[in-house]
Amino acid sequence: MTSSDPDAFARRLAAESTADGPAGWFERLYVAAEDGRTQVPWDRGAPHPLLTEWADHNALAGPGRAMVVGSGPGSDSEFVASLGFDTVAFDVSPTAIDAARRRHPDSEVDYAAADLLDLPTPWLDGFDLVVESMTVQSMPVDFHAAAIDAVAGLVALGGRLLVIASAREESEPADGPPWPLTRAEVERFADGPLSAEQTELHPVPQNPSAHRWLAVFRR
Ligand SMILES: C[S@@+](CC[C@H](N)C(=O)[O-])C[C@H]1O[C@@H](n2cnc3c(N)ncnc32)[C@H](O)[C@@H]1O
Repeated sequence: MTSSDPDAFARRLAAESTADGPAGWFERLYVAAEDGRTQVPWDRGAPHPLLTEWADHNALAGPGRAMVVGSGPGSDSEFVASLGFDTVAFDVSPTAIDAARRRHPDSEVDYAAADLLDLPTPWLDGFDLVVESMTVQSMPVDFHAAAIDAVAGLVALGGRLLVIASAREESEPADGPPWPLTRAEVERFADGPLSAEQTELHPVPQNPSAHRWLAVFRR
C-alpha cells in the first residue's frame, strides 16, 4: 500500500488494524514511512509551536527530569532537552524510536519504546515536566480515560504537565483518527493529584474553525 496522501494512508491503516490494540497501526505507519511508502502526517520537523510558545512565555528551563509522551519523530523531546531537562521520551512504535535516535545522533534524550497503557513502574510519579502532545487523541475514545490517567501518573510531586490536543465539542462525533478531546476529558487530567493551572483553546492557524487545547496541570 502506498499513498500520496499521508492522512488518508494513516486513516486506512487505523481502520484496518484493530486486532492488535489501539496502537498497533502506528508501528506499521512508521515502517511504511521508513520504506518511503508514506510520510508521517504529524512530522513537522520542528517542535510544536504551542510547546515553544508556552516554554518562551514561562521561561521554561531545567534542571529537572522531563518526559515526552508518544514522542514520534522526537522534535518536542529534543526541544525540551535543549532547555536543560534530563529528558526521557517514549513511543509505542520501536521503529519511531529508532528513527528518532538516527535523526538526532548527538541527542541527550533517553529514547525508549514503551506503551502508555502499560508503563514501566519506575517512571511513575517520576518527572518534573511531562509533555503530552496528541497521543491520547491518537487512540479511540474508549481508551482515553486510561491514557489520561497514565499520563497524569508520570508527574512528580511539584511537577507540571503540559497537554496539547485537538478539541472536540461533546456533541461532535468522534470518528478518528484522531479522536479529539472534549473539555470533560481535558478536565480528567486533574481528577487525581493534579490541579489545573491553565486551560485554553487556540484556533488552528490552517483551519480557524478548529481548535486545540493547551492545558497545564501542577501536582
Ligand atoms: C499523533 S502522533 C503525535 C506525535 C508527537 N507527540 C507529536 O506531537 O508530534 C501520536 C504518537 O503517539 C504514539 N502512540 C500512540 N499510542 C501510544 C501508546 N499507547 N503508547 C505510546 N505511544 C503511543 C504514536 O506512535 C505516535 O508517534
